[in-house]
Amino acid sequence: MKVGILGSGVVGQTLATGFIKYGHQVKIGTSNAGKLNNWLSNAGPNGSAASFADAASFGELIVLAVKGTAALNVLEKAGKENLKDKTVIDATNPIAELPPVNGVLQFFTNQNSSLMEELQSKYPKANFVKAFSCVGNAMMINPDFGGTKPTMFIAGNNDDSKNVVKEILDTFGWEVEDMGKAEAARAIEPLCILWCIPGFLQNRWTHAFKLLK
Ligand SMILES: NC(=O)c1ccc[n+]([C@@H]2O[C@H](COP(=O)([O-])OP(=O)(O)OC[C@H]3O[C@@H](n4cnc5c(N)ncnc54)[C@H](OP(=O)(O)O)[C@@H]3O)[C@@H](O)[C@H]2O)c1
Repeated sequence: MKVGILGSGVVGQTLATGFIKYGHQVKIGTSNAGKLNNWLSNAGPNGSAASFADAASFGELIVLAVKGTAALNVLEKAGKENLKDKTVIDATNPIAELPPVNGVLQFFTNQNSSLMEELQSKYPKANFVKAFSCVGNAMMINPDFGGTKPTMFIAGNNDDSKNVVKEILDTFGWEVEDMGKAEAARAIEPLCILWCIPGFLQNRWTHAFKLLK
């Protein structure tokens, strides 16, 4: 598959490396390609960098991995037509430009809304699927918890798109819990706040969530 990754940060680079590992072609979108020189030097022939618009146009599948406050701006640069009828894996979190309070991140959304719903309503022809938002980048590809598969919570309105994402998550070593439609992002996005607390308070960043049944 051709994957267009909107985001040149550690998440964009980590997921890009993961997709390449499993045989996909990846183009990372950025407004600052120089940031990716190091990544490009190790990516091999299936990895490249381009503008947000070119990466979105390239991708049959899109990944959105940008700063939450920049998500709308980046999607505008990517272009509506380049997102139409495509699955958009949304790894972003709506983290506000404010410091954590006793280790608790502050969001610019409230509990009865989510960033993904806002993006979905602005781009109704794209199929957003929330995924990868509630775990640190170091655990995104083939996390090793001594044989226990952690759970990735996903949500989105389009079942075909969710099936594509489920397959990818399975390949990347995750158990998937489909939490339903886009509104479920209101519950998934704040898991980022919970995930980060042990990090900020005790410098522990190597955990993931598991839904016991
Ligand atoms: N770090 C993690 O372990 C982790 C885990 C789960 C989820 N997340 C979420 O994943 C997303 C990406 O995180 P990250 O740590 O990889 O990097 P990040 O620093 O949050 O985002 C980097 C990307 O955001 C873009 N960006 C930043 N400010 C911008 C602005 N004002 N206008 C346009 N674009 C802007 C950058 O554009 P350029 O490419 O042009 O520089 C770059 O592509 C975030 O929403 C984060 O909350 C992070």
